[in-house]
Amino acid sequence: MVELRLESTLAELPLAPKNPLPYRQRRRAAKSFHTGMETLRDAGGPITRFTLGPRLLAPPLVLATSPGAIRDILSIKDDSVDKTTSVFVEMRRVLGANLSNLPYEPWLSRRRTLQPVFTKQRVREFGGHMAQAAESVCDEWPDGGVVDLDAESRKLTLRALGRSVLGIDLDHRADEVDQPLRVALKHAMHRAILPVRVPSWLPIPGARRARAASTKVHRLAQEILRSCRADPTRVAPLVHALIDAKDPVTGESLSDEEICEELIIFLFAGHDTTATTLAYALWALGRNPECQDRVAAEVAELPDGPLTVDDMPRLNYTVQVLRESLRLCPPGPTGTRMACRDIEVGGYRVPAGTMLVVGRMAVQRDPGLWDAPLKFDPDRFSPDNMKKLDRWQYIPFGGGPRSCIGDHFAMLETTLALATVIRRAEIDSVEEEFPLAVHFTMIAGAPIPARVRPRRPGVSA
Ligand code: HEM
Repeated sequence: MVELRLESTLAELPLAPKNPLPYRQRRRAAKSFHTGMETLRDAGGPITRFTLGPRLLAPPLVLATSPGAIRDILSIKDDSVDKTTSVFVEMRRVLGANLSNLPYEPWLSRRRTLQPVFTKQRVREFGGHMAQAAESVCDEWPDGGVVDLDAESRKLTLRALGRSVLGIDLDHRADEVDQPLRVALKHAMHRAILPVRVPSWLPIPGARRARAASTKVHRLAQEILRSCRADPTRVAPLVHALIDAKDPVTGESLSDEEICEELIIFLFAGHDTTATTLAYALWALGRNPECQDRVAAEVAELPDGPLTVDDMPRLNYTVQVLRESLRLCPPGPTGTRMACRDIEVGGYRVPAGTMLVVGRMAVQRDPGLWDAPLKFDPDRFSPDNMKKLDRWQYIPFGGGPRSCIGDHFAMLETTLALATVIRRAEIDSVEEEFPLAVHFTMIAGAPIPARVRPRRPGVSA
């Protein structure tokens, strides 16, 4: 009875307002996964409906950029919305199924199995060599020379990931991780937004390159797993945790193939998103010396020696800097879901078969929600100011059941890395802008040059 009444109420709701942008502008904006969502919102409002082609070829879309509308989509706990949009289908085809792209049914058990591996307490084990990785990268910097903060951050996070959690030295193997993952994911993204797709098995050059790239990362994941099975004492806490993980409901473990597929997403997410965050934070500190001084002062209070997870509670301002960096530069600027049933979003009816687009970067830079939204101001995330934020206006790690499983890990890794770098070096960013590009995640669109000098105690940036 109640359900019937709810359904009839839903049927009475209006559809979201139609976006007034002409087709070409709409298409250009929709293809720009970061700033394009702000263009669509400015033209059509915080919940806006549009199409990118005939229904047979492209589903209708609804873009949500208000906290309430985003909450309505992301907090749904059943399969009314799912990761069955073209981007996830293509990602599964190219890289294999993993937690981030599985549809609802198989995802439920996988999430139950993996969740305990990533609790705040458990990821403490992963903090092992993060500070040492950061120190060793800084040691290679020329005194007074210019380095590319993006390249250095990638080197650092890959080194930390390999040595701290995967039990492998990835220093000289970046070409087996970064490049192939980029090629494979870019291909998936490219296919996802095509109105008409040729069959994926056709041996066209892009598909061939993506398949070769995927094979390369699968081989690396197999090697990581094989070495850990062969040597259970190897320092590889994430791999051992995946081997031991069991679904608490069914008691089932992951097969070797499933472990490898998860390792691939962790290889990617564990260094790409964190590298961009670190690069942005370092660049921003290099433009804002007073913020850099505050981080340096915070770290100077800590005992000598490499920073560890135990230092985390005393790195509050460093965490604020990272939160502000993730607000202005969220590595996942836009998300998608498919509405599998009619649902309500912000007081509008969204029919089944609509692609839902969540504008994470748009809500995090919305001038209606943030004062001077483009200003870098870590004090927005002071304990008092954080209490005033709507839970859904700041979503760099998403929200609801499919939120980022690696959020604690990412914050641990980037906090220890940022604090270590600032303890060792003064950063002076050369460029006024941090150019952005989206390949699959959002990354620096060009090298980020900065002059670096060893930090001398008591001397400000
Ligand atoms: C700064 C770093 C990171 C950011 C900003 C970030 C962001 C996100 C976001 C926004 C989502 C939700 C996607 C959606 O709603 O469609 C997500 C999901 C996910 N992230 Fe992260 N992530 C980061 C680091 C990591 C790390 C370090 C790992 C693992 C080692 C990781 C693994 C995952 C996985 C597996 C999912 C899918 C979860 C699921 O669907 O159940 N991420 N991430």
